[in-house]
Amino acid sequence: MKKWPDIERVLLSETVLQRRVKELGRRISRDYRGEKVVLVSVLKGSVVFLADLIRAISVPCAVDFLAVSSYAGSESSGEVRLTMDLRESPEQKNVLLVEDIVDTGLTLNYIKGLLAAHHVKSLKVCALLDKPACRRIPVALDYLGFSIPDEFVVGYGLDYAERFRNLPFIGVLRPSFIRRGGVCAKRRGEDPSDILEAQ
Ligand code: IMP
Repeated sequence: MKKWPDIERVLLSETVLQRRVKELGRRISRDYRGEKVVLVSVLKGSVVFLADLIRAISVPCAVDFLAVSSYAGSESSGEVRLTMDLRESPEQKNVLLVEDIVDTGLTLNYIKGLLAAHHVKSLKVCALLDKPACRRIPVALDYLGFSIPDEFVVGYGLDYAERFRNLPFIGVLRPSFIRRGGVCAKRRGEDPSDILEAQ
């Protein structure tokens, strides 16, 4: 793509994304009618999705954030760590977890466990993207934007080494850009910025 030379192709255009997010917002508003909901966004990848989603929801809602990091030492352990906790207690609240992408399911499984321990009133998950081919732990998704193939995608909040979050669409990175396998490199604990610098 001329404007974005590192992007091989657009997987989900801005129009397609916006239409789907509005649909999700309508369904969420219908399902939570008469209730309040707290949207818990997992930093940083889900913030763009959250910003659009919240404007498509008509029931009263609050927003909170948490952040996790995947343990960088070993792929097999799949250890996830909380790096930033919620500001408000989610106890006795309807919590809707907003995720950018579910890959192995390890991150989501960990976060669901954390929140469930807070005795929430209800807990549901809204993920923009799902890569079912990569799943290592089954996790239920109550609302899903799109199922996508096992390719490393960026844009609409999703990054590679902190780049590309500002693309208005979801795109597939050129394989030459991710020499050592993209997200798998992340799981192996390699620093993607080293890979970028090696280009
Ligand atoms: P999981 O624990 O393997 O399900 O990983 C989920 C996290 O991995 C997401 O929240 C993203 O941060 C990251 N991730 C997985 N696949 C991609 C991708 O294709 N592009 C960007 N980040 C990804």
